[in-house]
Formats: sequence, structure tokens, C-alpha cells
Amino acid sequence: MIERHLNIPKIAQRLSQLNLTLEDFKANVGVDRRTIERLISGKTTTPQRETVRIIAEFLDLPVHEILALGEADTAVPLSEQELYLPMTGAYCVGREREIEQLDRAWSDRKLNLFSIVAMGGAGKSALVNRWVGMLAQDGWRGAERVFGWTFHSQGMRDTVASADAFFDAALRFFGNAEPGAKTAWDKGKRLAHLVRQQRTLLLLDGIEPLQEPPGPKAGQIKDAALAALLQSLASQQPGLCVVTTRIGVADIDAWHSTTAEVLNLQGFSDDAGAEFLQVLGVQGPVAERRAASRTFGGHVLALQLLGAYLKETRGGGCQPPLRDYHAR
Ligand SMILES: Nc1ncnc2c1ncn2[C@@H]1O[C@H](COP(=O)(O)OP(=O)(O)O)[C@@H](O)[C@H]1O
Ligand SMILES: [Mg+2]
Repeated sequence: MIERHLNIPKIAQRLSQLNLTLEDFKANVGVDRRTIERLISGKTTTPQRETVRIIAEFLDLPVHEILALGEADTAVPLSEQELYLPMTGAYCVGREREIEQLDRAWSDRKLNLFSIVAMGGAGKSALVNRWVGMLAQDGWRGAERVFGWTFHSQGMRDTVASADAFFDAALRFFGNAEPGAKTAWDKGKRLAHLVRQQRTLLLLDGIEPLQEPPGPKAGQIKDAALAALLQSLASQQPGLCVVTTRIGVADIDAWHSTTAEVLNLQGFSDDAGAEFLQVLGVQGPVAERRAASRTFGGHVLALQLLGAYLKETRGGGCQPPLRDYHAR
């Protein structure tokens, strides 16, 4: 468990901005007097989330500013990581805004679940891989444990998709000591409990094989253990769970915009699409490449196929007849 301290210098600075004395703060913050005294003196560390929330609200500051997380984040070494994520290309184009959103999600202690939703081939897995690489480069920014899993190929192989292999691997990774759970639901709850013990980054890639297809139950998770896990994590945890899927996770709708955030991943901008085609070896003027990207809705996999095709058949040229593809 990370030791959290109140960021006393920050709180003092804020109080002076608000023209309040420390005595005013202790008397009016809305936290039990003894608790607040002990926290300020440093006798107690790791304040409860609710206490932190109350203090943050009183001072009108974001939670991460009243905690001395800066030092904690860099001081905590990553203890373990295991990543079973799909391979994506070495070169990542665009996605600056989305990376920023993920950065914010990671540092926002109130956010527990971040889902990235888009059709197949839109670049969800590539985005996650890119971001994970950046986190690794930054020494994992305070993540104590990182576990990543892809459900994708499983769903292709198995007719009845289940999350069993994931739970076996994850329970082992997170140090499950108890014998088998009674129900699938218990299993999900137990993993959530273990995940919560530390500041964990949990990456679940391509969970759509375990969700209901479009229709009356669209997006609901069919696997009870996975449903329990995501619901538990959405409601409370010190880290973040990032999910990618083709269809929004209905089970966590209730947390939407509070502790859960959804990113509907769009196609490439014209600029990113033009750059991507160039990276793939397509030559030709940028205007043509931008137009080609737009014609294909900026869909990453479609552009990848187009790039390969043009390289094969036109020696990498996209002119003249790329405009032939335009909205026929
Ligand atoms: N931003 C990007 N830059 C470069 N290549 C990308 C980018 N996004 C996706 N790709 C490539 O496009 C293909 C499909 O992307 P992927 O992430 O697997 O899609 P999804 O997970 O949404 O099905 C992969 O080969 C991937 O490497
Ligand atoms: Mg994927």
C-alpha cells in the first residue's frame, strides 16, 4: 500500500489564499477534530479516501494536489509487471490527445476505469501499447503493479468465450492465497480485492468476445467473474483499469462520468492519416494522402491495407488515381 501524506505546504498555501487560519480549517473542514490534528501533525499517514475527498472539497482543490503524491509517485518502485498484450506496429502516428487523456486518467485518483471503445482496427490496442511504453519510460509513474491481458484471440478460438484463463493468470500474479472461489462472482470480487491492495494498472484488451453483441443487452458482460471485477474496480480502487472493446461496457454505465470515463476512439485526422500513409511507404503529395485518408474515414487498419496495396501495385505512388477511391 502506498503511504500517502497530506501535502501540508500546499494546504497552508491554499489556506492563506482563502484567508483562513489553520484553526479555521481544523474547526470547519468537516473532519473529526482528532483525525485532522493527527493528519496535520503527521502522526497518521494514509488518510482515508473519504477524508481526503472532504478536505479537497473544503479547499476547492483536486484530490491529487492535497496529497504528497509527487514524492510518493517517484519513490514507489514498480514491484511487478506482466503484460500479455497484442503486438502492434513499432511506429505510432498521432493520438497525442488520446495519450493526454490517458495520462490524466492515470493521475486522477478519482477515476477508476477508463474504457476505449471503437470498431476493430481503429487503433485501440496500438494506443494502449504506446501509452504503456511511455509509462515504462517514465518509471511507471507510481504504478506498483501492472498487469495486461488480451482476450481477443481467445474469443476467436473459443465458441463459448470465458475469462477463466485470465483469472487463473491474474489471481496468480496478484498473489491469491485462497482456494477456489465458490462462484464466478466471488472470483471477480476476490481479484478486485487483491488489485486494490496496491496502486495497480490493469489493462484488459479486447474484451468484446465476452460481451453481448448489439441488441437489447448490447455490451453487457456475459462472464460473471469479469462483470464482478469491473464493477468492483469501477466503484473503488487506488489505481486504474483500462479496457479496450468494440462495444461500450453496459455493466459500468452507472459509473459513467463519475469514476469511469469512456473514450470513443475516432479515426485518424487527415494529417495523421497522411503521415501514416507516408510511413507505410506511400509517396505523393500530402494533399493526396490527406484526401485518401479522409476517403477511408481515417480508419487505421483500412489505411494500412491501402498503403500495402499501393506500395505493391503502384510502387508506393498514390497518384494519379487515388481519387478513384473517393466516395463512389
Ligand atoms: N496510431 C497508430 N500509428 C500507427 N499504427 C497504428 C496506429 N493505430 C493502429 N495502428 C496499426 O493498425 C493496426 C490495427 O490497430 P489495432 O490497435 O490492432 O486496432 P484495434 O485494437 O482497435 O482493433 C495495427 O497493426 C496497428 O499497429
Ligand atoms: Mg485490439
